[in-house]
Amino acid sequence: MVLYLIGLGLGDEEDITVKGLNAVRRCSHVFLEQYTAVLGVDAERLEKFYGKKVTIADRDMVESQAEVIMEHAKDEDVAFLVVGDPFAATTHHDLVLRAAELGIKVETIHNASIMNGVAQTGLQLYQFGQTVSICFFHEQWRPDSFYDKIKTNMQNNFHTLCLLDIKVKEQSFENMAKGIKVYEPPRFMTIKQCIEQLLEVEDKRKENVYSRDSLAFGVARLGQSSQRIVSGSLGELLEVDFGGPLHSLVLCAPQLHEIEESMSDYWHVHPAERKKMREEQRRKREQEEKEKMAQRAAEREREEQERKATAAAATSTSSSSSSSTLRSLTRSKQPVRASAVAPTSDNTQDEDSESEVAMEPLF
Ligand SMILES: C[S@@+](CC[C@H](N)C(=O)[O-])C[C@H]1O[C@@H](n2cnc3c(N)ncnc32)[C@H](O)[C@@H]1O
Repeated sequence: MVLYLIGLGLGDEEDITVKGLNAVRRCSHVFLEQYTAVLGVDAERLEKFYGKKVTIADRDMVESQAEVIMEHAKDEDVAFLVVGDPFAATTHHDLVLRAAELGIKVETIHNASIMNGVAQTGLQLYQFGQTVSICFFHEQWRPDSFYDKIKTNMQNNFHTLCLLDIKVKEQSFENMAKGIKVYEPPRFMTIKQCIEQLLEVEDKRKENVYSRDSLAFGVARLGQSSQRIVSGSLGELLEVDFGGPLHSLVLCAPQLHEIEESMSDYWHVHPAERKKMREEQRRKREQEEKEKMAQRAAEREREEQERKATAAAATSTSSSSSSSTLRSLTRSKQPVRASAVAPTSDNTQDEDSESEVAMEPLF
């Protein structure tokens, strides 16, 4: 039969597509994966809207006990629901491969994802570089490989989407070591925690990839009625209360497109101050532009004067040098045109007669 991988979108039970909803209603079993992302509503709301019982599939079930899902899919249609899109920033290809091994047909029904919904900020999707995952730091484990990726993105003038850690049904290190199946309460990284970790790593690496002044966007519960999008420096965003999960952060590229600039004003944490600052920046730019133009005009004027002066000097040099050439030609009795001057009896010429020769050039 068919294993349907169905994206639920970002908001609530109503974000499923018509095609997805029809598929869910046809299925005998419906699993909901909610360890990589969560909707703004609980599973009961989905059950009510879909008219189907929904079984929560935790990481263990999907990664280690996928046979439970496959067993059903051998004989019946099964829906596997994923918040957002089934293949955006999630790794459910293993289900596709397992189903293929068992000869189970797979159909995918896509939906909106954080990976494209983030464009609501006004940042252009094709200006995004590598996405990074920011994991919760532990005392002994503070992974910072994201720093190099952000650095590359910044060098290429790309934005960086930071997806933040989620811990659902996780054991503490201690319980895991002891093999005790007691789970910690769910934890969702906040934008504030993410910024603190980013700044800690910058402090350690000191490669000036970003700072408290770097422009960023905090995005919370995108697609839900309570969504929040706020832009500001990392320092400013630290002070914003973004509310409940899920949160993401976008670190902006060093140079923004004009529209992106305007959208960052639109979402800014201090819009009035931001507007004032941007006005000042614009005035300063215009003033600088005017000064540059005046400087260029003055340079052109000076060059023109110099050109004229050089031309005048060249003309006077050439006329004086042609006279002297002719004078010297005459003195050395170079042949002149036969009719030029009648030889004097004593074969001498005064200065005036030399001038006459000069009037008859040898061309
Ligand atoms: C592993 S990704 C899952 C992506 C999901 N499959 C999708 O297509 O959107 C989970 C991370 O994406 C981000 N995220 C997902 N949905 C979000 C939302 N509605 N608002 C803000 N961030 C979200 C959060 O950082 C969350 O920890």
